[in-house]
Amino acid sequence: MNTRSRGMHTKLVHAGHRPDPTGAVTVPIYQASTFAFRSAQHGADLFAGADDGYIYTRIGNPTIRALEDCVAELENGFGGIATSSGMGAVSAVYMAVLEQGAHMVSTASVYGPSRGLVEKHLSRFGVSATFVDTTDPANVRAALRPETKLLYVETPSNPAMQVTDLRVMAEIAREHGCVLAVDNTFASPWLQKPLDLGADVVLHSVTKFINGHADVVGGVIVTRTEDLYRRIRPLMVTLGSNMDPHQAFLVHRGVKTLGLRVERAQTGAMEIARWLEGRPEVAWVRYIGLPSHPQHEVAKRQMSGFGTMIAFELKGGLEAGRAVMDHVELATLAVSLGGVESLIEHPASMTHAGMSREDRLEAGITDGLVRYSVGIEEVAELIADLQQAFEAIPANTLEVGATR
Ligand SMILES: Cc1ncc(COP(=O)(O)O)c(C=O)c1O
Repeated sequence: MNTRSRGMHTKLVHAGHRPDPTGAVTVPIYQASTFAFRSAQHGADLFAGADDGYIYTRIGNPTIRALEDCVAELENGFGGIATSSGMGAVSAVYMAVLEQGAHMVSTASVYGPSRGLVEKHLSRFGVSATFVDTTDPANVRAALRPETKLLYVETPSNPAMQVTDLRVMAEIAREHGCVLAVDNTFASPWLQKPLDLGADVVLHSVTKFINGHADVVGGVIVTRTEDLYRRIRPLMVTLGSNMDPHQAFLVHRGVKTLGLRVERAQTGAMEIARWLEGRPEVAWVRYIGLPSHPQHEVAKRQMSGFGTMIAFELKGGLEAGRAVMDHVELATLAVSLGGVESLIEHPASMTHAGMSREDRLEAGITDGLVRYSVGIEEVAELIADLQQAFEAIPANTLEVGATR
């Protein structure tokens, strides 16, 4: 069914579906590793690309194809490439675009492993990178070198939900002649379409909003042009970072409610962000929907909503963070985001507890920083949950004052 001219809710439900010979209304799970050739000539045609059928699941599979077509349509791109994880998508893009001696410029607050991949691993093959605050385009221009082949931007990005102007990034990439790739995980295609803003490649950890149910790890890449698709897809197939049919089935089921989930959760997020702004225990709140957010105007220009992620700083620092983590009952203490359930994390006492305080602060992880992924529960109950957890903060810690 061609759904390209349809509205987003309709696309979410129908994109990627083709009539199945059995009449199945949903895309069946083709749990097969290999596909029979009808004849020797058919096999030869498939390998030569003269027949669009299936050979082997690492190369392609009907259930995976349905999801790839769906996300490509949601992002208004040429084609989709599904991967085993979000990092599978990041590594396929880096390796397809960068060669020995190449350089990339990227967002300093990019997802940690996206930075580690180039600094710790691709550096061994002569690839280098400069990480800058991409919210200021002057930093990006200053970091470009003749050998810069990739501008890799994550927006919004952790931990302070920084927003980078994608139209400006596209202009810079075009002038310089490099590829602009955007990690759209935090926004999802419901809220932001980087290819429409001029990017060449968009990628997702579909583990987050696109699947939305905290039960799958996966990734999808979408390219604007056929040329980039033909560069990235064979590399992904050879790396072996393909998605599995069952994974694809679950993600394709999850994406159908993306709009409903994000719309509901972001209404709750706005309410929670406003409530947090009024709380004496909180030093500052970063929610891109609040006028106090430094890039609120950029977000308004390039996103159709403000999403569900909130960062805030507890005045009582580490001790306050620990107390809140130990007393929330409805929000779950966990990493990840974008699911129907609310997740809360205090990096200084949990994920980043092994780092020195200096290193943490350099990475923007202040002592009282809390990250909250708002789910679709009753917002009044989420606020009541936070309130009772705030009441457990030892009173003396509130006088310590906040670190920024
Ligand atoms: C922005 C962003 N990009 C990429 C990834 C990597 O995705 P995955 O965990 O699915 O490999 C994550 C994971 O948290 C992420 O938050």
